[in-house]
Amino acid sequence: MRAWVEGHLRAGEPLFGVVLGDRVVGVAGVSSSPSRLRYFRLLPALVRLVPALRPGAALALLRATRRPPAIPAPALTLDKIAVLPEFQGRGLGRRLMAHVHALCASDPEPAGVYLVTVGEGNRSFYEALGYRTVRAVPAAGVTVLHMFLPRLG
Ligand SMILES: CC(C)(COP(=O)(O)OP(=O)(O)OC[C@H]1O[C@@H](n2cnc3c(N)ncnc32)[C@H](O)[C@@H]1OP(=O)(O)O)[C@@H](O)C(=O)NCCC(=O)NCCS
Repeated sequence: MRAWVEGHLRAGEPLFGVVLGDRVVGVAGVSSSPSRLRYFRLLPALVRLVPALRPGAALALLRATRRPPAIPAPALTLDKIAVLPEFQGRGLGRRLMAHVHALCASDPEPAGVYLVTVGEGNRSFYEALGYRTVRAVPAAGVTVLHMFLPRLG
């Protein structure tokens, strides 16, 4: 997580954090310029979400995370959101996403927020925030979901 945060800040991309006491307990990072590198940055998160990654499945997962043409460009991309397990379920993820949406609404350029995720739990989390699945790609025993929320405001 620390390495990802440092890389994200070095790239000059927006990052939101929840700090309780002296601990960072949640982060959300977005980028406005989709790069091929982001697929490689996504991989560790995907590997963690896929319990038994078969050899060769990493490539299939990378292919599955390719941004679909149906996603309007430009869009803000949610690169990562994570809340420490012991702080989950207290509304922090929702609050981090509210900051992401406010950032999007403050800029006339992005058409909305785009993200890639895996898992029914995550799908429910984003659907409750208004996201819709634009494309679902089966790969390596999971379904990679491409989700989008049009810009509000
Ligand atoms: C996804 C994540 C950021 C959500 O953060 P959180 O602080 O637990 O979320 P919140 O407490 O704000 O929950 C908001 C709503 O989503 C629901 N929700 C959150 N995680 C959920 C899950 N895994 N399954 C089903 N519902 C979920 C909550 O029940 C809540 O619903 P409510 O408003 O009706 O009570 C957090 O679970 C996490 O860090 N997961 C691990 C990393 C990850 O998978 N990130 C997403 C990669 S794309």
